Amino acid sequence: MPTTPAPKVIPVPQLSDNYAYLVVNESTGDAIAIDPAEAGPLLEAAEQAGASINTIFNTHHHLDHCGANEELGNATGAPVQASAIEGDKIPGLAVALEPGQMVDVNGFTAKVLRLPGHTDGHVGYLFGKDLFSGDVLFVAGCGRIFEGTPAEMYESLNATIGALSDDTRVWCGHEYTVKNLEFAATLEPANAAIAARLARAREQRAAGQPTIPSTIGEEKAFNPFLRVTSPELIATLVAKDPAQATDPVSVFAAVRKLKDNF
Ligand SMILES: [Fe+2]
Repeated sequence: MPTTPAPKVIPVPQLSDNYAYLVVNESTGDAIAIDPAEAGPLLEAAEQAGASINTIFNTHHHLDHCGANEELGNATGAPVQASAIEGDKIPGLAVALEPGQMVDVNGFTAKVLRLPGHTDGHVGYLFGKDLFSGDVLFVAGCGRIFEGTPAEMYESLNATIGALSDDTRVWCGHEYTVKNLEFAATLEPANAAIAARLARAREQRAAGQPTIPSTIGEEKAFNPFLRVTSPELIATLVAKDPAQATDPVSVFAAVRKLKDNF
């Protein structure tokens, strides 16, 4: 990947627990808005930062990630860019991105990562060491599997995202961290990384702070969906169901099913 400047990332809370983001080139003030659900808070955040939104990216077609495309596009003139696989479901789509392609925007070169599982055409955007993971990877968790299979979601998380460097920052689509870690602790009660991150996340939320970003290295230490070979996690599953298959995809599917009902 060509060297590009690191962006300034500004998380912008949306709806009850969503995050949209501004990705700002500080030398020009140009900003990309990722996953707008509400235009007003993004326009306010851009103004406060002295930035102007000139591009909109979506990770997937759920309306809490693209419902404000047209309002924000009308207010700023910014064209909407999103996954070609979901092009017919994205409001106001102007540029269809092919998963795997590199996209040059505002002096940055971002890679469009294909991450099926939550939705079929879900993509992530990788700007150097900053990953915008939408509803595939959350801090200490992952999204529900709506359009794909457990095997696809496993691959998205453990092969595609798991291959990124440990210092890659994770900017995800929802503030679910405390509940995710409470669930993780039921699977690995002896995992000190889970207990420590849960304590910190509770402090952050009590102070009104977001828990993002995490890093890929941290996720590998406390996210059960990236820990499907953990002996403690597998032992917990086998204790619940002695017939539990212990290959990684079966373990992943079992963890996802337990989380669906947590
Ligand atoms: Fe979603």
